[in-house]
This record gives sequence, C-alpha cells and structure tokens, in this order.
Amino acid sequence: MTRTAYVNGEYLPLEQASVSVLDRGFLFADGIYEVAAVLGGRLVDNAGHVARLERSLSEIGIKNPYSLEEWVRIETELVARDGLEEGLVYLQVTRGAAERDFSFPKDTAPTVVAFTQAKKIAHNPLAESGAKVVTVPDIRWQRRDIKSVALLAQVLAKQAASEAGAAEAFMVEDGSITEGSSSTAFIVTRDGTIVTRPLSNALLPGITRRAVIALATEFDLKLEERLFSVEELHDAAEAFYTSASAFVMPVVSVDGRALGDGRPGPVARRLRELYFAFAEARD
Ligand code: PDD
Repeated sequence: MTRTAYVNGEYLPLEQASVSVLDRGFLFADGIYEVAAVLGGRLVDNAGHVARLERSLSEIGIKNPYSLEEWVRIETELVARDGLEEGLVYLQVTRGAAERDFSFPKDTAPTVVAFTQAKKIAHNPLAESGAKVVTVPDIRWQRRDIKSVALLAQVLAKQAASEAGAAEAFMVEDGSITEGSSSTAFIVTRDGTIVTRPLSNALLPGITRRAVIALATEFDLKLEERLFSVEELHDAAEAFYTSASAFVMPVVSVDGRALGDGRPGPVARRLRELYFAFAEARD
C-alpha cells in the first residue's frame, strides 16, 4: 500500500516528502501535534482532536493555518488516499523554517505535516493478555497540557518500559502518577472506584480520557478525579490506560508485580467494550 504525506498543501508519496533542516520543529521542537484514531475507515472522536490542536497552537502563539473543517478534510483525504481501515492520523504544526534564532521569526509560515499509520488498535492482541507497566520519574516541563512535539522525556520513559519488558511507563511526580508516556493513567480501587488525575498543566487533557469519563458516568460506574500515589497503583484492584492509539488498555502488572489476579480486570474490559461501541457510533 502506498503512503501519502501531506506537506504544506501538497499530497506526496511519503518517501518524496521533506521539510527544511532549518525547520524550528527539527531545531527547537517548536511545534505541536495531534494523533486521532481511525476505525473502519472513519476518524474516531475527531472533533476533540482538532479542537485540542487549535488550543495547543494558541498556547504557543502559532496562528492556526486552517479552519477546523480544513483540518478534517486533510485527515479524511489521507485516510482515503492510503485506504486506511484501522490506525492513526498524525498532524504536526511547527513555527516554520527560519534562520536559527530562539525568538519567534517574523512573517514565517508554519510548517504543516500529516500522514497516516496503519495500526491494530481495536484488534490489538495486547488488550487480551493485558499490558505491563513500569513507573518512572516524570522529568518533563511544566506545560504538559500542550501537545508539544518535545517528547524526549517520553521517548526515554517508553524506552525504559521496553527494556523492562513493559508496554507503557507511568510517570511519577511528588509521589503521584501524572500520566502514561503516551496515555492517560487510571486505577480501579479495591472498592471498585475508577480514579484518574484531574486536568491541570501536569498532564495532557486526553480525548479518550474525556470519553471514558463520560461513559463511566453514563453507565453509573463510580469515578473520582483525584491524584493517586504509586502505592495506590501497586495496591489497586485494576489499572488501565487510555489513548487514541490504545483506546482502553488493561494493565496486568506494575513494576514487575502482578496486579489483581494478573489478568485484565472486569472494569477495564467493560470500559474497553463501551469505548468500542462509542467509537463505532460517531466521528
Ligand atoms: N499520545 N498523555 C500523553 C502524554 C499522550 O501523549 C497521550 C496521547 C495521551 C492520551 O491522549 P488521547 O486520549 O487524546 O490520545 C495522554 C498520542 C497517542 C501519541 O503521542 O501518539
């Protein structure tokens, strides 16, 4: 299957697409991104993703080059050109290519890049066995609510997880979990309460998180938005993480120790099912 890259208004074969070595995304990580899921050839909960893209741009002072409808048109066109059934659409905007200088360049157009990635999200075998996670210190900057392309801390966290044989790293600050390296972290306490950290600049406002909270509320599951500690995670009945690339992923082990009976828990499995139904019903 050919893959297409969108670069500043053009659709090109991926291997022919390029940006300048002076691009500020490359030199300074001066840019933001979005990732939306595609299921059955349709974008999942995409309105939230393009709205967050707009917010991230505004928070770093880049004028949004496109309307929300234009963003959706680019995403939809890429999905169609690549014949993508299941996977992700990636969008990135940087402050553009300019002579290297820390302060913002004047009159420089942003660089826009987008492409798709085929990936099994709904049909991911990891969801059957459950994911292992490790905890790592959260060494990131203080504006994690912005979906910045400055992801080195998360790259190092995910690599630490891989080297420990785990699928995800939960990051820890002041004894509490902030979020996963590329996901939102949840626990289910022994009394059956779903717990996730409240939104703040300490974590990304996950689009999947929002949908899962709405589903939990709709289906009368007990849920609390509050900080939870590493000890509570180790002690939890269940844990799971959410993202556009994992949907709801049950966690079966933390820091090398089995959680509960070491199999995906009932609350995580139920939320995964509810999320599928939600994902299939709208875009
Ligand atoms: N990451 N927290 C972080 C740090 C993330 O990178 C992500 C998603 C999330 C979950 O957000 P959402 O539910 O909107 O996908 C939380 C994407 C998938 C990525 O970087 O590939």
